[in-house]
Amino acid sequence: MKKTVLTGIRPTGNLHIGHYFGASQRWVKLQDEYNCYFEIADVQALTDNFDNPEKVRHNVYELAIDLLSIGINPSKATIFLQSTIPEIAELTVYYSNLVTMSRLYRNPTVKTEIAQKKALFGNEGESVTYGFVGYPVSQAADITAFMGEAIPVGEDQLPLIEQCREIVRKFNNIYGNVLIEPEAVLGETPRIKGLDGNDKMGKSLGNAIYLCDSKEVITEKVMNAITDPAKIRKDDPANPNICMVYYYHKLFSGDEVDTVCSECKAGTRGCVACKRQLIENICKVLQPIQEKRKYYEEHIDEVTKILEEGSKKAREKASATLKEVKKAMQLDYFD
Ligand code: TRP
Repeated sequence: MKKTVLTGIRPTGNLHIGHYFGASQRWVKLQDEYNCYFEIADVQALTDNFDNPEKVRHNVYELAIDLLSIGINPSKATIFLQSTIPEIAELTVYYSNLVTMSRLYRNPTVKTEIAQKKALFGNEGESVTYGFVGYPVSQAADITAFMGEAIPVGEDQLPLIEQCREIVRKFNNIYGNVLIEPEAVLGETPRIKGLDGNDKMGKSLGNAIYLCDSKEVITEKVMNAITDPAKIRKDDPANPNICMVYYYHKLFSGDEVDTVCSECKAGTRGCVACKRQLIENICKVLQPIQEKRKYYEEHIDEVTKILEEGSKKAREKASATLKEVKKAMQLDYFD
């Protein structure tokens, strides 16, 4: 039996190359070896965007297209929409008794997010909803509904997986051994830095290159990337290790990297030419992804169909799990 891999992504924006190298490239490989579920977590996205349903709906399609374009294959893996699986919501209700409020507030990821909300809105009372504080419970339902065993996530998600494990142990202790304790699987690729040298790449930081960016947009972004400030003239020698252009060459330029490095140190390569070379290489890597994107943008009905079929398949599994859960909880009245 193949192990079950499950991961979720909030539909709040397009995938950028930080996502791609940090996580999604790995998902493409996993689908060959494991029974994979990829959840578009629209219900979770609403915990932060409940007043902006258009944004979530738009990004469900954008994310689905991104996933298909990078090579997630619906005949190998199940791509599904969280909101179409009511069993997840029902499991969330049952699990909510197994988690205390203080434990939720102590979750480091939730804690950080509450601090960010406070900084943004000033008033915790107005911005921290019941749905938001409880999203780790709903995420435990996402995972257990499909008996997810291996959960490929970034480091920031470890507290959520740990909280899920606690819920599973508590459930199994009280009601009997039904649920599987999932394990987080961290990637080997460290977080990709932004073009501005920031440790994190993100939409809000304005330092990301998106998989769907056009050559013009990529050119503008790379031309503004941070280089060695000591290099003033084209033939000044420079230190590639403090240059973001070199950092990106290491991701995109294959065999050319050694020459980039030595010429930069020797002062035989100007920054503009170096950036142009990087732009070409980024576009080369993104080209096949963007060709697929174009296809799916022109065949949006096909995307809807893939989501519908994936969700149907996912629902069968979630429904079987819920049945077992309710039986264990003595809620199987009419079976
Ligand atoms: N919380 C995750 C994030 O923000 C998304 C997510 C939702 C998820 N459900 C999940 C991740 C289940 C792993 C497993 O990135």
